Amino acid sequence: EIKACLFDLDGVLVDTAKYHYIAWKELAESLGFPFTERDNERLKGVSRVASLNILLEIGGLTLPEEEKTQLADRKNNRYVEYIAKMDSSEILPGALEFLKECREQGIKVALGSASKNAMTILNNTGLTPYFDAIIDGTHTSAAKPDPEVFLLGAQALEVLPEHCVVFEDAEAGIEAATRAGMFSVGIGSPETLNAANIVVPSLQQLSVSSLRESFATI
Ligand code: G6P
Ligand code: MG
Repeated sequence: EIKACLFDLDGVLVDTAKYHYIAWKELAESLGFPFTERDNERLKGVSRVASLNILLEIGGLTLPEEEKTQLADRKNNRYVEYIAKMDSSEILPGALEFLKECREQGIKVALGSASKNAMTILNNTGLTPYFDAIIDGTHTSAAKPDPEVFLLGAQALEVLPEHCVVFEDAEAGIEAATRAGMFSVGIGSPETLNAANIVVPSLQQLSVSSLRESFATI
């Protein structure tokens, strides 16, 4: 039985994945190496510091910690400029409807995001009131694929992992859900998200009743 839905934020509910990508790409190019959309897949769902480490590895650079902190800040400042201008038009197709449907059907709703900017995004897009619990990058100590963020979400909702469904666009997030013992819905392409229990192109293609049917088959 599904008692709770735990949503990743970037790339699942809102279209911020593109801003992360642009900001990281700008940073890579300023450091003198290219950064492709394919490279970017490795950064999705991964914390800011871990993302920077992957990016530097792609560029073949080793830098002192101090310089890395500056680079992470530089990327974040650019990203914050983008999200400051966000509004509800950047909620992804079907996301709001799905959140409303969950609530109507008595399913609890939590956020499970690695982002330290989650509250800004939720407030700017008007999504905050749809959540019973919000776990973001300011509450966690271990980044996805560690299951911590989703386990904290389940705990806050007082629901056991076996009754939880996680919605994720990142490979690292699907792995985190699996390690938490939760059912996972991949949002995006089946090639990158093949470890998920089910994959849909967007929340627009999913209803709570069809989710219940898939959930019942496992
Ligand atoms: C999400 C995104 C990642 C991002 C991470 C940290 O998981 O998918 O691309 O690196 O959050 O976000 P932040 O806003 O704290 O840099
Ligand atoms: Mg994501």
